[in-house]
Amino acid sequence: MDDVAASQEASLPPGLAPGTGKTFYIETFGCQMNVHDSEKVAGVLLTRGYRPVESHEEAELVLYNTCSIREKAAQKVFSRLGALRKGYRGSSKIVGVLGCVAQQEGEEIFERAPQVGLVCGSASYPRIAELIDKLEQGQRRVTGLELETEDCFETELTRRDNPFRAYLTIIEGCDKECSYCVVPMTRGPERSRPSGRVLEEVKRLAGEGYSEIQLLGQTVNSYRDPSPARLSFAELLVRVAETRGVRRVRFTTSHPLDFGPEIVQAIESHPAICNQIHLPVQCGSNRILAAMRRTYTREEYLEKIDCIRSSKRNISVSTDIIVGFCGETEEDFAQTLDLIERVGYSQMFSFKYSVRPKTAAGGWVDSVPEEEKSRRLTLLQERQRQIQLAAHQDLIGREFEVLVEAFHPKLGQSAGRTTCNRTINFAGRPEWTGSYLKVRVTAAGPNSLVGEREDGNFQPLEPASNAPGEDCHGS
Ligand code: 5AD
Ligand code: SF4
Repeated sequence: MDDVAASQEASLPPGLAPGTGKTFYIETFGCQMNVHDSEKVAGVLLTRGYRPVESHEEAELVLYNTCSIREKAAQKVFSRLGALRKGYRGSSKIVGVLGCVAQQEGEEIFERAPQVGLVCGSASYPRIAELIDKLEQGQRRVTGLELETEDCFETELTRRDNPFRAYLTIIEGCDKECSYCVVPMTRGPERSRPSGRVLEEVKRLAGEGYSEIQLLGQTVNSYRDPSPARLSFAELLVRVAETRGVRRVRFTTSHPLDFGPEIVQAIESHPAICNQIHLPVQCGSNRILAAMRRTYTREEYLEKIDCIRSSKRNISVSTDIIVGFCGETEEDFAQTLDLIERVGYSQMFSFKYSVRPKTAAGGWVDSVPEEEKSRRLTLLQERQRQIQLAAHQDLIGREFEVLVEAFHPKLGQSAGRTTCNRTINFAGRPEWTGSYLKVRVTAAGPNSLVGEREDGNFQPLEPASNAPGEDCHGS
């Protein structure tokens, strides 16, 4: 190995010799888990003396953290690589493909895109520093593709891209076997981080001024503490919320099978735990739920919703839905429309079924024609738009506490988020960003609210206080 390194030293790009100021650029596709993985990979690179730059043109190491949940998402990275190929033929730039496409396509990526030097799936991130070492030593093609692992991706440093909200992965991988989904194949088996480590990190983050902590996992509520403390997910939620300086806690994504009343009780027990649950249903028909191998029926799902609705907190529920899954009839789809009506979701992420290789459903007939999938998706989204608009109109005149997340200079507007994860735009100021303000809703659209700040309640953010979060009345 040393010999290889020595013999290739001469051909090392100048910027990638260890100890010099190397530059990197990382582009992320897909979910929050990917966004946070990129933050951690960036942290590893920063620790090694790399410097981030704003564009791939300037960077010596270009990384794409990819998503393959639907075909369109997977194609994106190949169009990026195609563009790079033209621009960088013969250049010393190193290109890496990380994440789900890397895991799924493996070494074939080298064939399709010869300029790629690193292919690494998320289950191999614990080895990313070692893989970068190999690149620095001049190895031309390096892979991290092992899937069976018990390790979580722990980093000394994480570069956090949002100054107020910190993402924190508590469980990696997925052991569910939904028939349409690539995630168990791309992210590997479920593995939870010890609760003590999670809580230490939360404490440090709160001390650094991150007032909102978002716990992440593909099935976050399937968390199983591997340490002797054996905290349940609900207990962990409460412990995170009790951490001094933490003002809001969110968690995503919950799987209905592992969702029980103890999570609702945890939310009720601590005001810092936000009134928001993302509980993907995927479909309203029992026939299709069974084909999807979701492990619950429509009735069982609705019982969980009843439990949430009977809470003394007004908890908003959002969901994911797939239309046009194999064998979905008009009647099945009508059941989905009926279900969204019954539940009254605060937000819905909906998708046309996309056949994914190596999944169980990948071998089944994709029976619903593309135009029909589009028709169903449009109908579903239109109905959801009406549901959200009506719910938002009911909020006019109410007051909410928001965490101000952004200021848009052109509009002179600040944008804040309620505990229920609704966005309110209001006449604002740049210095309000990062603070918690009371805002009264004055107008409503389907996707966001308009409001005005209540006078005299500007509260600069104080990481050391543990002020309770405002309840989201009536939402
Ligand atoms: N086709 C369409 N949507 C999918 N999702 C997962 N796999 C597929 C697929 N093959 C959706 C699900 C999931 C969300 C993250 O992506 O709704 O909850
Ligand atoms: Fe995919 Fe199902 Fe796991 Fe969610 S629970 S990541 S949809 S396999």
